[in-house]
Amino acid sequence: MLLLTHPLSLLSLLSLLTLSPLLSTSLSTATPTPNYLKLPLLLLPSSSSPSLCSLNHHRLKNKTTANLPLSSGASTGSGQYFTALLLGSPPQPLFLIADTASDLVWVKCSACRNCSSSSAHNPNSTFFPRHSSSFSPHHCFDSACQLVPHPNRSHCNRTRLHSPCRYDYSYADGSDTTGFFSRETTAFNTSSGAQVKHEGLAFGCAFTVSGPSLTGPSFNGAHGVLGLGRGPISLPSQLGGRFGNKFSYCLMDYTLSPTPTSYLLIGGGNVTGAGKKPMKYTPLLINPLSPTFYYIAIESVYVGGVKLRINPLVWALDESGNGGTVVDSGTTLTFLADPGYRKILTAFKQRVKLPQPAEPTLGFDLCVNVSGVSRPSLPRLSFKLFGGSAFAPPPRNYFVDTADGVKCLALQPVSSPSGFSVIGNLMQQGFLFEFDRDRSRLGFSRHGCAVL
Ligand SMILES: *[C@@H]1O[C@H](CO)[C@@H](O)[C@H](O)[C@H]1NC(C)=O
Ligand SMILES: *[C@@H]1O[C@H](CO)[C@@H](O)[C@H](O)[C@H]1NC(C)=O
Ligand SMILES: *[C@@H]1O[C@H](CO)[C@@H](O)[C@H](O)[C@H]1NC(C)=O
Ligand SMILES: *[C@@H]1O[C@H](CO)[C@@H](O)[C@H](O)[C@H]1NC(C)=O
Ligand SMILES: *[C@@H]1O[C@H](CO)[C@@H](O)[C@H](O)[C@H]1NC(C)=O
Ligand SMILES: *[C@@H]1O[C@H](CO)[C@@H](O)[C@H](O)[C@H]1NC(C)=O
Ligand SMILES: *[C@@H]1O[C@H](CO)[C@@H](O)[C@H](O)[C@H]1NC(C)=O
Ligand SMILES: *[C@@H]1O[C@H](CO)[C@@H](O)[C@H](O)[C@H]1NC(C)=O
Repeated sequence: MLLLTHPLSLLSLLSLLTLSPLLSTSLSTATPTPNYLKLPLLLLPSSSSPSLCSLNHHRLKNKTTANLPLSSGASTGSGQYFTALLLGSPPQPLFLIADTASDLVWVKCSACRNCSSSSAHNPNSTFFPRHSSSFSPHHCFDSACQLVPHPNRSHCNRTRLHSPCRYDYSYADGSDTTGFFSRETTAFNTSSGAQVKHEGLAFGCAFTVSGPSLTGPSFNGAHGVLGLGRGPISLPSQLGGRFGNKFSYCLMDYTLSPTPTSYLLIGGGNVTGAGKKPMKYTPLLINPLSPTFYYIAIESVYVGGVKLRINPLVWALDESGNGGTVVDSGTTLTFLADPGYRKILTAFKQRVKLPQPAEPTLGFDLCVNVSGVSRPSLPRLSFKLFGGSAFAPPPRNYFVDTADGVKCLALQPVSSPSGFSVIGNLMQQGFLFEFDRDRSRLGFSRHGCAVL
């Protein structure tokens, strides 16, 4: 899920330096505080097909916004990873989509006029601020209020006691939420069973939501979004000082049954030391115009072991902040800048030895009929990244089952010249990713979940 507007990007960069006084927080636990938080990530497959595209990239071509004939969310990977958060005093359990491409942590609040109804996962569909003794909205004049996009600051009356800090936060597809930027006590159930409490989490208490990402089936009854981005109001930024300013996750394979547990690890955790496979690293790049995103740089792309002749400028993040490649846990498919996408598609078409299905599959440019083939041989895709490391995911990370015996190449083109490429969560599954914000690098290794 991608944040569209960056109205305060420069301000946000500046305020990174002064974050602690603005968002003062404190932590406590019943048991000795660990130096990291290990939280289970739940995969909730989407309940219906439109979800595959609805959380996706804003520069989608028209055809991908059509309903896709998908048999089930789980088999196609049209899912989102959720994490549980306990908010308020006494704590109210909430399920939030874990999103590396946005910053704001927000939940639907009871004042929400048009938040959709509850689902099986959340008997209570919203957070009730009035049932919490620790809830307090930021005042519109608070310095913290400068950290959220809030069009009405000029209307702020400094002396009026009840002038809550309003925000208006938009995602790439035009989805939007407004509400009060507030403070609340939060707690996390860690995987070891301990509950870690955190006071003064700055979050959005939403009273409107709109747009397909936030109201469609892909939102899947979530209570809100857990922003893991690089900006000052994201969860890792708020917890960073305490937990070593990095986080890791592994997203387990959607297609395994039962789905193994995935984890989000906030902070320390010697993930490199514990693993049998050493981590590979690539630098995380900063785009001052989109300070939320974790950019990596693609150097070249290989299909079937052959390096494709793609102009490196296709992947470049330019000086106006256009282009580049973002790692996004909240988007399912992978989007690749267009001249590159076409070359990759052509290379796949040349190498795939399997027949195409009788009918084309709407939304995908390449599908193969694998019925009767027990172990279909599919070409390998790999990305050579800056720093020399190679990200070589297995075919199940980029071929999805769209019908019985039909697999489709789960890549989409980005046609706008100002668009950027996105590595979605399907492409990431089975790998451990470590977002090391202090060292500004992304680590990755196969068989990640076992390491965590
Ligand atoms: C999408 O399709 C509609 C009708 O087919 C057309 O009017 C519209 O301009 C298209 N939008 C884009 C972004 O191509
Ligand atoms: C947190 O852990 C407690 C105790 O183990 C459990 O009762 C509760 O359901 C958990 N809450 C969430 C949101 O996972
Ligand atoms: C749901 O909300 C009601 C009213 O606020 C509360 O009494 C109840 O405990 C809540 N249930 C859960 C599971 O949080
Ligand atoms: C900002 O103020 C205007 C006029 O007072 C109002 O119409 C608008 O809804 C406000 N916007 C938000 C996000 O509160
Ligand atoms: C600001 O609020 C105070 C106290 O409520 C009120 O007296 C004053 O008139 C307000 N100022 C403006 C410009 O609205
Ligand atoms: C919710 O309310 C907002 C603001 O009034 C509106 O823009 C949006 O379309 C509404 N969403 C739904 C799902 O009705
Ligand atoms: C992490 O583990 C490695 C290998 O076991 C070890 O050499 C290193 O000192 C550890 N680092 C920390 C910070 O514990
Ligand atoms: C796939 O090929 C088999 C024959 O090998 C055929 O019976 C089946 O209808 C094909 N499926 C599709 C979706 O084209």
